[in-house]
Amino acid sequence: MPLLHGEPPVIAIDGPSGSGKGTIARSVAQRLSFVFLDSGALYRAVALASLNTHTKEDDAEALAQLALTAPIDFSRNQDTGDAAVLLGAQDVTADLRREEVGERASKIATHQQVRAALLDRQRRWRQPPGLVADGRDMGTVVFPDAILKVFLTASAEIRAKRRHKQLIEKGMSAKIESLLADIRKRDDRDYNREIAPLKAAEDSVAIDSSLLSIDQVVTKVLDLAENRL
Ligand code: C5P
Repeated sequence: MPLLHGEPPVIAIDGPSGSGKGTIARSVAQRLSFVFLDSGALYRAVALASLNTHTKEDDAEALAQLALTAPIDFSRNQDTGDAAVLLGAQDVTADLRREEVGERASKIATHQQVRAALLDRQRRWRQPPGLVADGRDMGTVVFPDAILKVFLTASAEIRAKRRHKQLIEKGMSAKIESLLADIRKRDDRDYNREIAPLKAAEDSVAIDSSLLSIDQVVTKVLDLAENRL
C-alpha cells in the first residue's frame, strides 16, 4: 500500500452526532484492516474523568491537564473480547455512552487547551497500514492531509429515530421528542463553537446517510478509498 509523505494514509470521517459515522468508520477500518480511532470516545473519556474528579467544566487548564494525563486506553473486554475503553483499570465503555457524559464532552470540547492537549494523542493513532478516524475535525484539523475526507450527515429527525430504535433495542425507554431536542442542542454547540467547529473540509466528499443503509454508505466510502489508495 503506498504511503503518502512517508506517513500511513488516513481516511477521515466527520459529521454530527448520530450520523452513523462511528459504525461506518469502524466497518471501513475492518474491511481495510486499518487502525480505527473513535476520537469522540477520547473526548468522552476526558469528560468522564472530569466528572469523577469533580473538575469544573469551565476550568480549561485543569481539563487540559486531564486530557494530557488521564490513563485512557482502548483495549478489549477480557470476558467478552469486545472493543473496550479503559480509564485506569476500569472498563468505562458503557459509561461513556451516557447522555450526561456526551453533554459534558461537547462542553469541554469547546476549550482550545483541551483540543490542543488531545491533538498528539489522536495523531499517535496514525499507524501502518493506515487509519480510519471519526470525529468532528479529523479532516479539518487533526489529519488535514487525509487521503479521503468524508462529511457524513443525516437529518436531525432521522438521527433521533435511529437513536430511539437503539435505546428501545437495549430495553431502555426514550421519547423521540426529547432525543431530537438533545441532538439539536448538541449540533448547535458543535457547529457554532469558535474553536474547531464542525464543518465539512473544503476537499471533503459529502454523504447524506438519511436514506441509505449502513452497508450502502460503507460501500460508497470503500469505493472512494480504493480510488485514492
Ligand atoms: O462523537 P461523539 O458524540 O462521541 O463525541 C462527543 C462530543 O465530543 C461531541 O459532541 C463533540 O462536541 C466532541 N468531539 C469533538 N471533536 C471530535 C470528537 C468529538 O469536539 N473530534
